[in-house]
Amino acid sequence: MKTVFVAGAGRMGAGIAQVAAGAGHEVILYDLTQELANGGLKAIDKSLQRATDRGHVTSQEADGILQRITTTADLSRAEPADFVLEAIIEDLSAKKELFGELDGICREDVILATNTSSLSVTDMAEATSRPHRFIGIHFMNPVPVMQLVELVRGLKTCDEAFAAGEELVRGMGKKPVAVRDLPGFVVNRLLIPMINEAVACLDQRLASAEDIDRAMSLGANHPLGPLALGDMIGLDVVLAIMRTLHEGFGEDRYRPHPLLVKMVESGQLGRKTGVGFYDYWG
Ligand SMILES: NC(=O)c1ccc[n+]([C@@H]2O[C@H](COP(=O)([O-])OP(=O)(O)OC[C@H]3O[C@@H](n4cnc5c(N)ncnc54)[C@H](O)[C@@H]3O)[C@@H](O)[C@H]2O)c1
Repeated sequence: MKTVFVAGAGRMGAGIAQVAAGAGHEVILYDLTQELANGGLKAIDKSLQRATDRGHVTSQEADGILQRITTTADLSRAEPADFVLEAIIEDLSAKKELFGELDGICREDVILATNTSSLSVTDMAEATSRPHRFIGIHFMNPVPVMQLVELVRGLKTCDEAFAAGEELVRGMGKKPVAVRDLPGFVVNRLLIPMINEAVACLDQRLASAEDIDRAMSLGANHPLGPLALGDMIGLDVVLAIMRTLHEGFGEDRYRPHPLLVKMVESGQLGRKTGVGFYDYWG
């Protein structure tokens, strides 16, 4: 049993706290205010309720998971942590500021990990005095359901820290793949340009949105077509990752399609705003 400090109690942080407590660890779930942290715990409660209704966990197990999670808005509670798993907003300066503060609070032997989807793990690690104990642990959304975790080795990450991260996520029932610290890692590097290309197909009227998605569902066995997937991820997130790939590699093939940019500028972000490539009001 380890003490896991989860920073950020949003969608990903709540999921990470749930699977960490599910693996038997003591979890401290932190956010900017006590209310936000409690909101994360409420989301976990709901998620466990659904899992209980479906027979995936017993109500006793769900109670145990909830009991192992405490919430806080006090960063100094990270002091006894064996692991810090950071899942705050995708903003490099906010993440660096947080890790800088944690560096002054945490034990010498803590493992510091970020759940960033696209930012440089190596750069973030430099906000601390111990970049060798810093790794990327990139969970997929929704965390309790998705098996994959990308384990990211920064330029200075030591073998011991990487192995500790691997052991932690395997204990959570996840299947890790080891990746180097390059923009988009594996999943987003392949998935997001595919969505961007589907936007180009739509813009060229190659086929309707429905037919582009149907083609990839029936022809490539994708559970969701690329445009519907973009709507689910959020087109603002898709655009941000395309920009990271474009800036990171400087290659034209990663240029965000103008229609994707316009969709985001006009607030058509997909499911979360009710409109994207499809209409979700109905
Ligand atoms: N949503 C996804 O599909 C997904 C998938 C993989 C990785 N990620 C990554 O996970 C991270 C979190 O994403 P999310 O979707 O959970 O975001 P979210 O907006 O749902 O949650 C972010 C949380 O962080 C809190 N926060 C912001 N600044 C903070 C600070 N300085 N200290 C403490 N808490 C702070 C916010 O109050 C909020 O509760 C991001 O880095 C994102 O790129 C997201």
